[in-house]
Amino acid sequence: MPNGITGVIPKGGGIKQKSPVRFAHFLFCFSEPLASKLARLFKTKKPLRGAFLFGGKRGIRTPGPQKRTTVFETAAFDHSAIFPGAAAAKVVKYFTAGETPCHFKSSEEQGKEQRLPRSWHLRIFAALRIIMKVLVFYYSQSGQMKNILDHLLQPLQSGGTDLYFAEIRPDPPYPFPWTSDQFFDSFPESFTGIPCQLEGMILPPPEDFDLVVLGYSPWYLSPSIPIHAFLQSETASRYLKGKKVITVIGSRNMWLQAQEKVKRYLRSCAAELAGNIALYDKAPNLVSVLTIIRWLIKGKKEAGRILPAAGVRPADIENSRIFGEIILRHLQSGDWNSLQDSLIQAGAVNVKPNLVLFERNGSKIFRMWSSRILKKGPAGDPRRRPAHRLFKIYLLIVLFVVSPLANVVYAPMKLLMRKKIAADRHYFSHNGLKENH
Ligand SMILES: Cc1cc2nc3c(=O)[nH]c(=O)nc-3n(C[C@H](O)[C@H](O)[C@H](O)COP(=O)(O)O)c2cc1C
Repeated sequence: MPNGITGVIPKGGGIKQKSPVRFAHFLFCFSEPLASKLARLFKTKKPLRGAFLFGGKRGIRTPGPQKRTTVFETAAFDHSAIFPGAAAAKVVKYFTAGETPCHFKSSEEQGKEQRLPRSWHLRIFAALRIIMKVLVFYYSQSGQMKNILDHLLQPLQSGGTDLYFAEIRPDPPYPFPWTSDQFFDSFPESFTGIPCQLEGMILPPPEDFDLVVLGYSPWYLSPSIPIHAFLQSETASRYLKGKKVITVIGSRNMWLQAQEKVKRYLRSCAAELAGNIALYDKAPNLVSVLTIIRWLIKGKKEAGRILPAAGVRPADIENSRIFGEIILRHLQSGDWNSLQDSLIQAGAVNVKPNLVLFERNGSKIFRMWSSRILKKGPAGDPRRRPAHRLFKIYLLIVLFVVSPLANVVYAPMKLLMRKKIAADRHYFSHNGLKENH
């Protein structure tokens, strides 16, 4: 990627707001973020000129290669040589170009309908870096994760925050729906974190962002293979380093061990996990196994004659906006320490004791299976077929026979293990990382 060029975005456009709404927005934008930004600047002893004189890397917008696009190039401005007049001229240039320096779109969003408000006051705040900017990395195979993020982050967007969606795209893409063989063949790479190839991304510079959101789905008690690949990439090290990160999970119901691996990745990128929201399918465990198989292998998500619809319930996705409201408040106040507790109070994570046990034991057994299958060859190698077909039979027996029996045995034991269960629930609901959990 050429160093300077950070994005190609549609020119002009924007949501036309009615004047009372704009005025209310103006007051809101003025009081909340300005106060919190200034408070944070004083607290962190950052030079105030950053807030008033276009601190950090700014850019130049020029006509893009396609009609109605512009290219934003990050030429760092030398503040020492900036006259107030020159700064004013730059602001005029941004505004007359019809964009602010902060309204980026990923290549996927180019030319699409989702545009951010670009009223004059927002442009001024954007130029002054008072508007917060959030970078959202995500991978979504069926679109469920993207749908969750759209709902969850909607309050940030209405609160004047700039969102930049960066889709993680495997190259070639994984099939959807899967064939049974493809689905089970992806197990060892997913579990052990062997990365796939990813498409390149065009992104604004990392220092533009106040927060990073990572939306992912677990595959086999691990993050999905594209998320492994991303978290091992140079892009992740650059964009996550020193950032507050919020993870958003869209799972069937087993996400605990996947999140432990993500915590380790974030630590190795020197990022700080500030919050976690885990949405899951609330149908009973065995029902959700059946519906997810029907969805992922047959492509049928909708309810059938007997089975309910697969995946996270639409009502839960819509309600996830309450978590977005909480994130917005913490983003504006800069108080990250209490974010996870606020999210937990609002129901963002629910740790089920039975699943803690299943995932722990499952992980140990998955380790043996994955090394056994990997010995037969790389992904897609036909020599692996007998081994991953055997794994499929094993998994179905565990899910449909062993786990219901274990639930019965575990029920009375729970009374004796209250302290341990409470400690586990606390640990998995929070963002700390201990080895061997
Ligand atoms: C290969 C594969 C393995 C999966 N394994 C798990 C799992 O271990 N735990 C879980 O809760 N969900 C699991 N799921 C479901 C996903 O986490 C997710 O809910 C679903 O694939 C939709 O995500 P999407 O937005 O990426 O399409 C798995 C899905 C796939 C495709």
